[in-house]
Amino acid sequence: MRLITQIYQLFYYLKDPEYPSEGLTISVFHGIAGLTQTQHFCPMNLSLQHRNALVCGSTQGIGRAAAFELALLGATVTLLARSEEKLRALVTQLPTPNGQRHGYLVADFADAEQVRTVVMAASAQNDFHVLVNNTGGPPAGPALDSNTAAFVQAFSSHLLCNHILVQAVVPAMKKAGYGRIVNVISTSVKIPIRGLGVSNTIRGAVANWAKTLSVELGPFGITVNNVLPGSTMTGRLEAVLAAGAARAGRTVEEETALMIREIPAGRIGAAEEVAAAIAFLATPAAAYINGINIPVDGGRTGSL
Ligand SMILES: NC(=O)c1ccc[n+]([C@@H]2O[C@H](COP(=O)([O-])OP(=O)(O)OC[C@H]3O[C@@H](n4cnc5c(N)ncnc54)[C@H](OP(=O)(O)O)[C@@H]3O)[C@@H](O)[C@H]2O)c1
Repeated sequence: MRLITQIYQLFYYLKDPEYPSEGLTISVFHGIAGLTQTQHFCPMNLSLQHRNALVCGSTQGIGRAAAFELALLGATVTLLARSEEKLRALVTQLPTPNGQRHGYLVADFADAEQVRTVVMAASAQNDFHVLVNNTGGPPAGPALDSNTAAFVQAFSSHLLCNHILVQAVVPAMKKAGYGRIVNVISTSVKIPIRGLGVSNTIRGAVANWAKTLSVELGPFGITVNNVLPGSTMTGRLEAVLAAGAARAGRTVEEETALMIREIPAGRIGAAEEVAAAIAFLATPAAAYINGINIPVDGGRTGSL
């Protein structure tokens, strides 16, 4: 059956008038080669066994869901967030399909130097192969009303902390010839969102930083990609909906319905759906995906 298919494909390439001539030569070659080769199809490699993942902002929401997905794929996960109480409870709940021993780090992205100290100490003991850069979003508000300190703080928490983390983990990634850096940003990278002045500004900077790094690190088997969540039901979104409803004198249900109206999928997303994209980008199967933005937004973002 395969032989018949390949003969048909060869015939198709030869007769298609729209096929460019240089492509035709290559395709004929491939067609003939295909007749003589045995092809082996394997399922894609999603295993993170023997890989260590550092997942930031991971006591709740998207980060927490990503930590679960990565652990399910076999990674040994190190959680990072501010609340030690939550971290201690969560680390015992993470899946251990390969008998992994997960751990956690306590650090506050509001203090970049503290993050540096904590992560440098951790990376001296542990080779991380996957880094998920994630933390709480900057406060809402129009750009014009935001003071300069808010921009500086958001730049530090989102860009500088991400950079400190990357600098700490990249040497081990280079040594391993395997690295996956996934930044959780926002669809505002593509289309700025009204009322999120500081966030829109800093998210754009993070996306450009990530793209630049992807070019620098690609030759070492390290990829750098951004996942852009749309409306995702987490603690943060619940707070955003409650604040929006209170401001507009609506119920939270009415506010939620207004949000859903903009989403082609007709619903709010789940943290697990964003985590699935993060986890896939961390796997060997995603080796050739580098320097991109992936919206996980039910189709809401009105641009390519
Ligand atoms: N949910 C959405 O609809 C949506 C949409 C677009 C973009 N995003 C972005 O995606 C990211 C994650 O969103 P989410 O909804 O999952 O948020 P979330 O539910 O508020 O969770 C944030 C996580 O980050 C940790 N965190 C917060 N501030 C931190 C700090 N200063 N230092 C270290 N860890 C910190 C929190 O743990 P601790 O409190 O224990 O530190 C928590 O684990 C945010 O940047 C958000 O703006 C979310």
